[in-house]
Amino acid sequence: MGSTPTLPQSGGRYRRPHPGTQPDYYYPPYVTSIKRAPTQPLVRLPHTLSEITGPLFQDLVRQHTAMPKACDLTRQPSGNAIGERIIVSGRVLDENSRPVANTLVEVWQANAAGRYYHDVDQHNAPLDPNFPGFGHTLTDSQGHYRFVTIRPGEYPWRNHYNAWRPAHIHFSLFGPACATRLVTQMYFPGDPLMAYDPMFNCVPDEKARARLISAFDWETTIPEQALGYRFDIILRGREATPMEGQ
Ligand SMILES: [Fe+2]
Repeated sequence: MGSTPTLPQSGGRYRRPHPGTQPDYYYPPYVTSIKRAPTQPLVRLPHTLSEITGPLFQDLVRQHTAMPKACDLTRQPSGNAIGERIIVSGRVLDENSRPVANTLVEVWQANAAGRYYHDVDQHNAPLDPNFPGFGHTLTDSQGHYRFVTIRPGEYPWRNHYNAWRPAHIHFSLFGPACATRLVTQMYFPGDPLMAYDPMFNCVPDEKARARLISAFDWETTIPEQALGYRFDIILRGREATPMEGQ
């Protein structure tokens, strides 16, 4: 610790989300939201120093440089994961399009068959002993991050009859402050299941929803190795990447 926190430029406060660009708390097609949604009007909290500073993770940054790389999910000590290798990369930017450097990016996902390595997941699909399905990395000085992983499979989730989640990768970021915390999901372009997915569609604004979809990327595609997908993440502001549905 000990570094000076980066404060937002907009008068020391983060801009509030633009209407419709974040998930509706109450979205009945997403059945879980019916019980989770607040029943009382929200209380607007002012941004104080607690919200606009930290976490800094400086110790983690130091440790990370000494740790084995956790940004390649396809190679485990026991062997290589099964599935289609992909590269997922992008930049993390703040509300003023400035890079967010040295920030922790965590991912978790289902394997190629659409199953998580987790006791709760009892989907009748094979587990891959060489794919735990989670990783983390830090952005560089220009906000870039990069993961090598497996394209996740779609999976059923019993929200309604014949409900299937589109292929997706979960992301968690803290950014420079508590107010920039983001937990979201990245989708793949052209996935027909997005149109039927309440968790994707609970973000009312179409342009905001589109910010959850990665773009196929020739620039990061490696010949004979892996297709590239680009997913830029914006923490707060008018163009903010939406949170996942609650
Ligand atoms: Fe998931």
